[in-house]
Amino acid sequence: MSIKITFIGHSAFKINDSILIDPFMAGNHTANDILLTHAHGDHLGDAIEISRKTGAKITAIFELANYCAEKGAKAQGVNIGGKVPFSWGSAYWLPARHSSSTPDGKYGGEPASIFLNINGKKIYHAGDTGLHYDMKMIGELYKPDVALLPIGGFYTMGVDEAVKAAQWLDCNKVIPMHYNTFPAIQVDVLDFKAKIEAVGKECIILKPSENVEV
Ligand code: NI
Ligand code: MN
Repeated sequence: MSIKITFIGHSAFKINDSILIDPFMAGNHTANDILLTHAHGDHLGDAIEISRKTGAKITAIFELANYCAEKGAKAQGVNIGGKVPFSWGSAYWLPARHSSSTPDGKYGGEPASIFLNINGKKIYHAGDTGLHYDMKMIGELYKPDVALLPIGGFYTMGVDEAVKAAQWLDCNKVIPMHYNTFPAIQVDVLDFKAKIEAVGKECIILKPSENVEV
């Protein structure tokens, strides 16, 4: 069964109209579940507000989930490596190499990436991260079909590291994210597409609000 991936913008995605990931600038969206990779403002985004307004449940690393709950959101805390069951399938919060603090400067727990399995369709959202070798483990263990990878550089890995990440993850399709939204993360996405295709993978470039069925 195919799933629908909608790019909201930056690193924010909506999956199948019921799951939001890192809902930055997504205040007009609703969902049953909101999944967060880490606490930075461009990822926490409108999660707390959407949860308070709609009752959507936030799932995040323990410290960040507690922060969201203190602000009145519905939240459950998880940690790296455990399988988390959902009505639509399961997810794992996995390593990312980054930092994580809330917009008001509190420790946000470990930064994470998220692997989702929805009826056998496997999606990996790398979060904000530099290239790290755990991606090879994630490829061996879970072999995602689609990887959502940051390519903007400066705060995360850039184009060339993301190509290596896609190879280690052993995925067939890549959707680039976290680029061209801020001055420091301007890249040529067509250069990335060419390099991904050169290693035999499909590159799906989505503009904000566009979606793809995979
Ligand atoms: Ni970040
Ligand atoms: Mn970010």
